[in-house]
Amino acid sequence: MARIPLIAGNWKMYLSLAEAVDLGRAVAASCADLKNRQVMIAPTSAALAAVSAATQSSTVKLAAQNSGWEKEGAFTGENSPVMLKDLGVSMVILGHSERRHIFGESDAMVNRRLLAALNFGLQPILCVGEQLADRDQGNTFAVVENQLRAGLEGVSSTQLDQVVVAYEPVWAIGTGKTATKEQAQEVHAFIREKIETLYEKNLAGEIRILYGGSVKPSNVDALMGQADIDGALVGGAALDAESFDRIIHFK
Ligand code: 13P
Repeated sequence: MARIPLIAGNWKMYLSLAEAVDLGRAVAASCADLKNRQVMIAPTSAALAAVSAATQSSTVKLAAQNSGWEKEGAFTGENSPVMLKDLGVSMVILGHSERRHIFGESDAMVNRRLLAALNFGLQPILCVGEQLADRDQGNTFAVVENQLRAGLEGVSSTQLDQVVVAYEPVWAIGTGKTATKEQAQEVHAFIREKIETLYEKNLAGEIRILYGGSVKPSNVDALMGQADIDGALVGGAALDAESFDRIIHFK
């Protein structure tokens, strides 16, 4: 089965409510002519309800930037997957490097969040990626493998088809320094190979692996031309309607 490309915009902690609604509408309009590709946007949780209303009659998928591991409870500052679903959210970004490295989220937390997302019917995007020091020391593959194994712990073969993986080398995020298409492809192929070891060949062939880290209109075509790159997780360039429109219309 062919992997349907997914272009995902991570809006991080940017945009006023009015700006988020405007951008949501613009992305919805950009998607009107798309065939055989999916587009997702992840506003801040504060803007989810409004962006959900603004995009509900479109094909744009709405995502949260994180989600909790229980249905409800005393978890100040968290959003439950069930509450997010109520808002029209269908996907969630988990284990983003900013969560891991700024807020100290561990692999174990990311795994709990991922299992809960699957149990409550949200499609998780599991983010993995090495820091510059890891790459310099030759530890890229070990770091990525550990994050992948720990993140997917307890995920069954039947649940795996709901999971999307995103490879985001930390040194390429927000730095303007994209991994070359060869560097990205090498790690994507490695991730697919590891999934084949953890699960089986046909599941590894079906899982989508997105690349993230300074994806722009100028480099998206080359990245998307790689055999194991099935989409992009876009930060900065997803905040501008025109840039994102070009990215979702990659050639
Ligand atoms: P940039 O595209 O701004 O580098 O951000 C990438 C990212 O972190 C997406 O999740």
